[in-house]
Formats: sequence, structure tokens, C-alpha cells
Amino acid sequence: MTSVVEAHINLKALRHNLERVRQAAPNSKIMAVIKANGYGHGMLQIAEVLEQADAFAVARLSEAMQLRQAGVEKEIVVLEGFQAANDIIQFSQHDLQPVIHHLFQIELLQQTRLEQPIAVWLKIDTGMHRMGVAPNITKQCWQQLHGNESVAAIRLMTHLASADDLRSEQTQQQLATFDQAVAGIDAETGIANSAGILGWPKSQRDWVRPGLMLYGVSPFVAGRCEDEKLQPVMTLVSCLIAVNHFKQGDTIGYGASWVCPEDMSIGVVACGYGDGYPRHAVPDTPVLVNGQRVPLVARVSMDTICVDLRQQPDATVGDPVVLWGEGLPVEEVAQAASTIPYELLCSVTNRVSFHYIS
Ligand SMILES: Cc1ncc(COP(=O)(O)O)c(C=O)c1O
Repeated sequence: MTSVVEAHINLKALRHNLERVRQAAPNSKIMAVIKANGYGHGMLQIAEVLEQADAFAVARLSEAMQLRQAGVEKEIVVLEGFQAANDIIQFSQHDLQPVIHHLFQIELLQQTRLEQPIAVWLKIDTGMHRMGVAPNITKQCWQQLHGNESVAAIRLMTHLASADDLRSEQTQQQLATFDQAVAGIDAETGIANSAGILGWPKSQRDWVRPGLMLYGVSPFVAGRCEDEKLQPVMTLVSCLIAVNHFKQGDTIGYGASWVCPEDMSIGVVACGYGDGYPRHAVPDTPVLVNGQRVPLVARVSMDTICVDLRQQPDATVGDPVVLWGEGLPVEEVAQAASTIPYELLCSVTNRVSFHYIS
């Protein structure tokens, strides 16, 4: 049985993008962010290929445990840290590094005596206002952790809120706040996400934390992968399962919202929101049929989308379709669906079969 919708994961492109990170941040160690199933690409497969990274970052303890159970021995940082004392034991037993972003975590750690001390990352909230301790208590937190026998090493980090917008002043402000907060503390630091690495060289510290750029996607508002010399890792492919001819005035799809402006052919592509294609993609969103762009028409259904084949008069059932990836940047599809590439990559469903191509 052949699968219809496939995600082709180009591992060579993944290696290229890691190299691109090294080139852009030659003096920093790389913590590859592979949370959320490797941004939808398959966390374990991605981890295997990114063996040259210096560490991995995931969001949750469960993701870190999955990596350890698969035999990954590299340093692993858990960005959400721990929520309960029981978790801390697991961090210690499996040599995992929590991000400490809140005072309650420092207190929990003080109440727990670990046989095997853990390395931690102290996160400072320099303006994102999501997770992190206030800059003015950084030294106090650091001292508390420093005096804790369960803590083996402390590194310092923050996260940038607006690095994807090169005109925003917030990044400079965050860097200044960070530098002031950590002044005088002798510890390794890490700030830059993908946009920081590519757009804000001053955010490259001892460590960088790329996510999106590893998967070959530009982190910038309205950016494109080729501008950043990145190669898309995921290409979502399908095929035409019907070609039908309609008269001017005929309506297509749910809600009869799209009306044929003339007599024309409509192609039906096997791929819908049940596969992870965005329901909010608007008419004219580009789709590649036989390597050529054609516009989406009508509403996205669960299993199918429809495309205008006026520019593809010879298109026929079985012809190949690319929804995003090589030849069609996911950034463009995301824009047309009023979302971000991160969401599209993470949303591919388990009905889609994944093929890893090296
Ligand atoms: C704390 C932290 N660092 C780094 C990253 C990687 O960001 P990006 O995928 O934009 O490179 C993320 C992603 O959400 C994150 O939450």
C-alpha cells in the first residue's frame, strides 16, 4: 500500500544547517533545540544526525527521558525545568540539566539532597516576561544555587522576545539588561535563538540555542530560507487524486465560497488539515503541481485541498504535489495561513508517513 501524503526529511540539509550555525557563531557551543518532536521532524532521528551539536535542549522531562532511553549520552537541557521534588531525582539519575526559571524551583532544590549533583541553567527574565527570575535578584539566586551541594555547575541564560524583527529595539535592551544582571558572576552564558544567531551577533555568547534554522527555515519576519543560506529539511508531498472540469459560476468546496471565474479544471490534492495542512490557508496560497506553482482555491478540507489548474492543462491524476519544502518555502505557506512556520512543521499529523533521506 502506498502512502499518499509523505514528509520527506532531508538529513543532508539538516547537516548543512548545523554547519551554517557553526559558521554564523564560530566561537559558541551549540545547544540544538529539538523539543516538540524535533519541531515535528522526529526527535530521535534528528538527534542522531545532530551528533556534532554540543548539547540538546528539549522543553520537558519526558522528552529528555525519551532521548536517554534511546541511548543519547550528550548533555541535555530541559527548558521548563522541574515542577516537583520527584522530578529532581530523575534529573540527577539521568544526568539532565534543568533550567531554573522561578524561585520555587530554587526552594525545591534546597529541600532535596542529591547523591549525584546536577548542572543547572539559571534563566533571567530580561524582557520576554514569560519565564525567568527578575534581573535584580540574579546574584541572590546564583548565590543560593552556588551554596547548594546538590548543584554541580551553574550557567546563565535568557531568551530573546523580538530578535526576529531586526528593527526592534527590544533585543539591545535585553542584552544590556542581561549583561548588567550577570556582571561579576563567573559562569558560562547563553542567549541567542536562531534569529539572535543570524541577526544579532552580540547575542552569541558561550552557547547558542538554534531551533528553527536547523530545520532550514528563516527565523525572520517575512524571511526566506535562501536569504539565510539554509536548506529546508522537511518537504511535505502528495499527489493529485482527481482532476475535474467545471463551468464558469460553479462553486467549489465547503460553504460554496469559491466560484469558478470561467470554465476551468480543478485539481484535488490528497492533503488537508487532517494531515497538518493549515485550515486557514487562503485562496491563492501557492502549491507546487509538477514543480510549478498553482493557486489554492476554496476552503481547506480535512483530507483534501483544491487547486486551480488553468496553468497546468496537462495535469492528471497521480501527478506530484509539494505542499511546502523544497521549491516552496514553508515560510510562504505560513504567511498565507496567517501563522508561523514553527506551527506548520509541528502540526504534521501521524497520518503522514515520514521518510528520512540521507
Ligand atoms: C528558550 C528557548 N531557546 C531557544 C529556542 C529556539 O528558538 P528558535 O527556534 O527560534 O531558534 C526556543 C524555542 O522556542 C526556546 O524556547
